[in-house]
This record gives sequence, C-alpha cells and structure tokens, in this order.
Amino acid sequence: MTTSLTASASGRVNLIGDHTDYTGGLVMPMALSATTTITGVKVSDAHWHLVSDDDPEPAQISLPVTDPAPIQPSWARYVAGVLAVFHERGIVVPGFSGTVQTSIPIGSGLSSSAALEVATARLVLDLIGNHHQPISATELARLCQRAEHIATGVPCGIMDQLSIIAGRPNTATLIDCHDLSIDHIDLPSEIEFSVRFIHHRTLADSAYAERVAQCQSIEKIIGPLRLARLQLLTAKGSALSEQLVRRARHVISENQRVRDFAQALQRGEFQQAGSLMVDSHWSLSQDYETSTPMMDQALKDCLSEPGVIGARMTGGGFGGCLVIMRYR
Ligand code: GLA
Repeated sequence: MTTSLTASASGRVNLIGDHTDYTGGLVMPMALSATTTITGVKVSDAHWHLVSDDDPEPAQISLPVTDPAPIQPSWARYVAGVLAVFHERGIVVPGFSGTVQTSIPIGSGLSSSAALEVATARLVLDLIGNHHQPISATELARLCQRAEHIATGVPCGIMDQLSIIAGRPNTATLIDCHDLSIDHIDLPSEIEFSVRFIHHRTLADSAYAERVAQCQSIEKIIGPLRLARLQLLTAKGSALSEQLVRRARHVISENQRVRDFAQALQRGEFQQAGSLMVDSHWSLSQDYETSTPMMDQALKDCLSEPGVIGARMTGGGFGGCLVIMRYR
C-alpha cells in the first residue's frame, strides 16, 4: 500500500519591523492560522507532479532541479527552488505526486510563497526520512530563503521563512536577524491583531531589490545599520544622498520601534504600542517609500474606526495588507 504524506506551513503577519531583516535588524511577526498543505504519495519516476486548487495548470517538475527560475506555472518555482537547494546539498529527492491547497491569500504580503517553500522542505524531509541528519529551524529557514533567491531572483531576508518555522500560535516571534536568536512573546489577552487586505502588490520585486542595494550602499559608508543610532546620521549623514539618509532613518528607527513595541506590549502599554505601529507605517511610507496612496488612505480610515489602537502596512509593501491592533 502507498502511504500518503502531508506537510504544511502557516502564513505570517509582521506586527512591526519591516525592511530590517536583510541588514540583520529586528522583526516581530506572528504565525497566522491560514496554512498551505501539500498531500500526496512518493512515486518511482524522477518528477514532482503537483496540482493546485488555485490554478487549472498542473506543475510537472523534472528531477534533479538545477534552475527553478523558468519553471511554469510560476507558483511551482517555490517548490522547484527548494528541490534545487536539496540537490545542491547532495541530497537525492524522490519523485512525488500530490496536491497543493492553501488558505493564505496569495500576493498579499502574508508570505504565501515562504509557506509553500517551508511545506515543500518539510515534505522532502519526510520523503527522505532517516537518510538525512536532523535539521535545525535556522538551517531549514536558510535553505528555504536560498530557494526563494534562486527561484525568483529577489534577495529576500530571513524573516518570513524563520517566523513560519519557529512561530507558535497566538505568540509573537521577536527575531534578531543578525544572530537569528528568537524570543517568543505572549500576546496580552486584552488585545487582538487582525489583517485587512487592501490591494494586490505592484512592482514589488524590483523595488525590493533596489532597497536591499541601497542599504548595502549605506552600510559601506556608515557601517552596520543594525548597530547604528539616529545620532550617527547627524554625524555622518552628509556623506549620504538625501534619499539614502531617509532609507537609513527608516531602518535605524524601525529597529528601535521593534524594541519599544515588544516592551510596551509586555508592560500593557497598548496605546504606546499602537502609536509605534502607526509611526512604523509613516516611516515606511515617507522614508522608505514602500507604501502606496491607497495603503496610506486605508490606514487613515482604519485608525478612525472604534476600538482600533494601532495599524500599519505589513510585509514587503507596495500593496498587500494592513495589520490592525484593537481591544478585544
Ligand atoms: C518580504 C521579505 C522579507 C522582509 C519583508 C519586509 O516579506 O521576504 O524578508 O524583508 O519583505 O520586512
């Protein structure tokens, strides 16, 4: 009898700390209940055959995968990226035939792609069983991050993959993206976070890569952003263009907001935590320029609703969702 295998991974919403991970800064995401699940059986031929509930076109991926970027349909690149990274590491992945189902809204900044990568990697580990040594959460996250780099060419940070792997229900995951240390922070019972979809992301990939490159240019001049304080910009800012000063100001102030937000939540200072979320939004919008007029308007509308304490855009930006904090 052929045994059916299942692997899943949840989406994530970032409460605060955006565009800080790729300079080794702080982020504070939490896992969502929405998940992606892959179910199927091992097969003897050298292919992965997958059918998705969201796409009439099936994916047929030939093994071994060396270049996932041209694979069609495009969602299958994330799967192929993971298969390629296992291949790079000398691991022979068996054939598989199955289905992909997801309740994570796609292209909304809730990490549907990272969830597909993590579900695939978990499935591969299951398929190869005890032929492989145990793999730590950070190693698995790095494997999936590399899969995304080679599948899409987007130089994403580690937040999405690591928070999905290490996240716990109803708990925020405070990650230091330099040493990858994690603090699990219980969310106070008086408040709740929700997610509101505003619009699909636009131009996200090229603008994301441009922000990563800008941070690299800044660091060549002023040193690591994760260690910098705003005073450093006063001292050394004249060596940067006006635009790079704004980019640096976002990253430096956002790292501080993550620290302050975690502390405010733990102390029950919810109004303070809410204003930090709003400050984070405007910093992303004005200094980092990863918001859109529609996202900014949606934030203003949301803040006038009864019970809302704070809100901000979440994730890579250029559209996607707001994360909203309110009293229960
Ligand atoms: C995307 C990337 C993450 C992170 C966020 C912005 O989700 O995949 O690594 O950089 O954008 O915080």
